[in-house]
Amino acid sequence: MPFCLVRADITKFSADAIVNAANSSLLGGGGVDGAIHRAAGPELLAECRLLGGCETGQAKATKGYGLGCKHIIHTVGPVWEDGEQGERELLQSCYRNSLALAESLGCKSIAFPLISAGVYGYPKREAIEVAESEARRFLEDHEMDITLVIFDKDSFEISAERFEGIRQFIDDAYAKIREDKERGRREMMGNAACFNALAAAAAVLKDEEAKPKKKGLFGRAKKTESAVPNYDACDAAEECAAEDYFSMRDESFSQALLRLIDERGMTDVEAYKRANIDRKLFSKIRSDVHYKPKKQTAVAFAVALKLDIRETEDLLSKAGYALSNSLDFDLIVRYHIVHGIYDIFEINDALFRFDQTLLGQN
Ligand code: AR6
Repeated sequence: MPFCLVRADITKFSADAIVNAANSSLLGGGGVDGAIHRAAGPELLAECRLLGGCETGQAKATKGYGLGCKHIIHTVGPVWEDGEQGERELLQSCYRNSLALAESLGCKSIAFPLISAGVYGYPKREAIEVAESEARRFLEDHEMDITLVIFDKDSFEISAERFEGIRQFIDDAYAKIREDKERGRREMMGNAACFNALAAAAAVLKDEEAKPKKKGLFGRAKKTESAVPNYDACDAAEECAAEDYFSMRDESFSQALLRLIDERGMTDVEAYKRANIDRKLFSKIRSDVHYKPKKQTAVAFAVALKLDIRETEDLLSKAGYALSNSLDFDLIVRYHIVHGIYDIFEINDALFRFDQTLLGQN
C-alpha cells in the first residue's frame, strides 16, 4: 500500500529507511531520537559525529546498524512557536528532503515518526496533515511504500465534529438493527398461528425430503417431480447447462473495474493512485480476469471511482462482498460515501482512528 498509517514503535518497524526526528547536533536526545539510538547501538552515534550536524528542514543518512533497516534518515523538524515562523514550510522540507534522500538511496519503503509533534510542540493534527499531504505529493510521481508510524493512537486526531458525526452514524445504525430485531421478535411472539403453520409446513417438507431423490444440477438433490416436472429430460443436457451457467456468469470484479475506469474517463494510473493501491497489485488485477481482491481493495477502487452507494454495492458484489450495517468498517465507508467524501487519505484517517483496516491495504 503506497501510504499507510500504523500504530507502532518505529524501532520495531521494518522498512528500507527509518526516519529519525533528530535535533541539529545529530548527537541523540530524547523521544524517538533516543529510542532509535538505543536500538541502533553506539556505532550510530559514531557515524553521526562525522556528519557535522544538520540544519532544520534538512536530512542526512547513516547506516541502520542494530535497527535492522538499510538506512536511518535523520531530519530536524522545526520547534513550534506560533505557526508564524515558517514552521509549516520547514516541516514540509523535512518530509521532502527525507523522501528525496530515500529515493536517491534506492529505498522502496520508508517509515516516518510524526516529526516535531513531541518535544518540539507542533500541533498534532497539523503535523499529521503536513505528513499526509507531503506523502501524497511525492506519490503522484514516485513509487514507494510510505508509512506514518503513530506511537500513541490517542494523539492521532481527526476533527471532533467529524469524529462525532461518524460515531453517531455508527450508533444510529446499531440502534436500528436492535429496533428491527425487537420488532421482529414481538411479531413472532404475537403470532402463534403463524408458528403453527410454519411447523406444519416444515413437517410436510421433512416427509418430502425423506422420499428417495435423484441427483440434479451440480450434484444437488432434485426437487420433487411434482414441483419440477420433466426433470429427467434434463439429464442429458446437464453438462451443457453447467457450461452455459459458467459462460453466462456476470462480469468479474476485474472486468467491471476496467469498464468503470474507462467509463469515468480515467487512466489506470489515476485509478490505482487514487485508490492507494500499488502498481504491482493493479497489474495483477488487470491481468487476471478472475482475481479476487480483498474487501478493502475493492472498496478502495469504489472510492477512487467515486461510485455512489448502489454502484459501490454492485462492484463489491462482483468480488463476493457487501456493505453491512453491523460492521464498523462498512459503516465508516458508507458514512463517507453518502456524504460525498471520496478522499482516500481522509477515509483512512477515520478508519485508523476507529481501529479498522485501511483502504488499499493488501
Ligand atoms: N516510535 C514512533 N514514534 C515515537 C516513538 C517511537 N519509539 N517515540 C516517540 N514517538 P519527538 P520532535 C513519537 O519528541 O517533536 C528529541 O530529544 C512521539 O509520540 O521524539 O521532533 C530530539 O533529539 C511524537 O509523536 O520528536 C530533538 O531534540 C513523535 O514521535 C527533539 O526531541 C515526535 O516526538 C525532537 O522533537
